[in-house]
Amino acid sequence: MGSRRWVAAAAAAAMVAFLLLSAASHGGRRGPSFNSNNRTFVFNYTLAKTIVEYASAVYMTDLTALYTWTCSRCNDLTKGFEIRCIIVDIQNCLQAFIGVDHNLNAVIVAIRGTQENSVQNWIKDLVWKQVDLNYPNMPDAKVHTGFYSAYNNTLLRPAITNAVRKARRLYGDISIIVTGHSMGGAMASFCALDLAVSAPAIMLLA
Ligand SMILES: *[C@@H]1O[C@H](CO)[C@@H](O)[C@H](O)[C@H]1NC(C)=O
Ligand SMILES: *[C@@H]1O[C@H](CO)[C@@H](O)[C@H](O)[C@H]1NC(C)=O
Ligand SMILES: *[C@@H]1O[C@H](CO)[C@@H](O)[C@H](O)[C@H]1NC(C)=O
Repeated sequence: MGSRRWVAAAAAAAMVAFLLLSAASHGGRRGPSFNSNNRTFVFNYTLAKTIVEYASAVYMTDLTALYTWTCSRCNDLTKGFEIRCIIVDIQNCLQAFIGVDHNLNAVIVAIRGTQENSVQNWIKDLVWKQVDLNYPNMPDAKVHTGFYSAYNNTLLRPAITNAVRKARRLYGDISIIVTGHSMGGAMASFCALDLAVSAPAIMLLA
């Protein structure tokens, strides 16, 4: 997969999450409040490329190489990454990892997208038109049932939330960057919003 495509995908995912977070912070009386420090989103190519490297590393099938951060994608801009947790949901063919990038001083959450041989994931992709689920506590926001369920009703949500909480207990309230490609990007957006709502005062990028 060309790196150009990856960058485009990451930029698209970043925009989605950014829009979701903007909507959440301005939405409604009961909406979650964010400790906004007036940071505006400025595109940074190096940062985007780093995040794309994390998004592609989550596709590695050699979990040992991932765990020791020695995979073919585990170099360059992501060198020195401290992996903290690898999540594998075999039943739903989902994979994600959580760790700490000490250069960026941020918790990284990377979520894998569709696997070509995964029937379940294809089915979720096929029903992409079903933007019919009301996002919890946001009456005007409709989301895709398949993608939301893949995040909310699998191992991902509790495992990611738990690992992020532990990492921040250890390193303080550092930023969280959530990334993913394709279906992983959709789930990353839900994850970013979920983390922002449950742990306010987070600066997020997906
Ligand atoms: C952030 O923006 C708000 C509204 O634009 C302003 O009232 C506030 O003073 C700003 N805060 C900082 C720290 O610049
Ligand atoms: C872009 O991000 C990198 C970290 O990946 C940082 O070192 C650099 O200072 C940033 N550049 C700008 C212009 O903010
Ligand atoms: C999301 O997960 C929570 C907790 O497991 C569950 O109560 C809720 O029904 C789920 N939401 C959807 C829309 O599936």
